[in-house]
Amino acid sequence: MREILFDRFGGPDVLTIRPESPRPEAGEGEVLVEVAYAGLNPLDHKIRDGSSGRAEGLELPAGTGREMVGTVLSAGPDLDEAELASRGLAPGTRVFGMRGPQDQRGVMAEVIAISADDLAPIPDSVPEENLPCWAGLALAGLTAIATVRDAAGIREGHTVLIHGGSGGVGQLLIPMALEAGAARVWATGRAANAERIRELGADPIAYDEVDWQQALREATDGEGVDVVLDTHYFSTFEPSLELLRPGGIVVPLPSLADLSPARDRGIRAAIPAIVPGRDRLDHLVQGMRSGIYPLEVSQVFPLAQIADAHRVLEEGHTRGKLVIDVRA
Ligand SMILES: NC(=O)c1ccc[n+]([C@@H]2O[C@H](COP(=O)([O-])OP(=O)(O)OC[C@H]3O[C@@H](n4cnc5c(N)ncnc54)[C@H](OP(=O)(O)O)[C@@H]3O)[C@@H](O)[C@H]2O)c1
Repeated sequence: MREILFDRFGGPDVLTIRPESPRPEAGEGEVLVEVAYAGLNPLDHKIRDGSSGRAEGLELPAGTGREMVGTVLSAGPDLDEAELASRGLAPGTRVFGMRGPQDQRGVMAEVIAISADDLAPIPDSVPEENLPCWAGLALAGLTAIATVRDAAGIREGHTVLIHGGSGGVGQLLIPMALEAGAARVWATGRAANAERIRELGADPIAYDEVDWQQALREATDGEGVDVVLDTHYFSTFEPSLELLRPGGIVVPLPSLADLSPARDRGIRAAIPAIVPGRDRLDHLVQGMRSGIYPLEVSQVFPLAQIADAHRVLEEGHTRGKLVIDVRA
């Protein structure tokens, strides 16, 4: 089978296709999945270039990618048919999911072995052409849940500023903040993405056209907001601290974000950590079914163009998700 591997840390070109990779076997608690599409995340390029904490101790050559959509082929020796059926994961079922935090294997391969706990079935009503959205849902969605619920604890009446409202995680942060009861949500992004941010239910602030700090101050009559969710971090984290109301919280997403500028000023700050689990994946399914999580896929690349996809990913201006068509 075809599989993307890299044998050293470096730029996008370290990613190569191995055309005759051995097919994996499903271990305990695992199923074999024939992958249709795989979602890309900034974490992928940070692992590939060695800058992520997750690159430490990674055995090379390594696979790439964390989330995907596909079809269950079979199960490991300890999962019988009845057990699989009770979880809705019978062979032939279309599933989506992401590798658990401790699982370093990639997903950009024609067939993968993955823990059954890290998968959930996709509704039968979903048409084939919508599968790319489901490939990009698990990681962004579990991150958004961890951000809104666990890290920020957004409640009824909170006012919220989101940096990067049209990015992969941002497109789910906006509806989830509103679902949690936020009274009003503002989201930064380039002017080209303002309409998308508005469609998702937030007030856009075009950081490439206006002074975003000034715009937020004016919009809140100088009060600021209760919560800042910062998917960008680099140039936005410290200036955002001035825009928080007393008792407010700032949540930067990059795992290596330095929280000390906030803590030194007595401001609450937290980095979200993904909590895997079927209940959370099922919550994402409900949100997709009801149309409240309209995650957008901006580009689909064939497997052989993985390096080009990483180049786009690294620019840091992805709208919605980038997805790899593993069958193309
Ligand atoms: N802690 C965790 O468990 C966890 C999980 C997932 C992701 N993450 C991290 O979260 C971050 C975001 O991930 P993602 O998948 O959403 O990334 P993404 O899809 O690449 O989106 C990046 C976003 O940043 C915005 N942006 C770029 N420059 C900006 C600026 N100067 N001001 C405001 N926004 C700006 C972009 O908007 P424009 O195009 O409009 O500029 C885009 O919306 C990454 O660092 C990722 O590693 C952490």
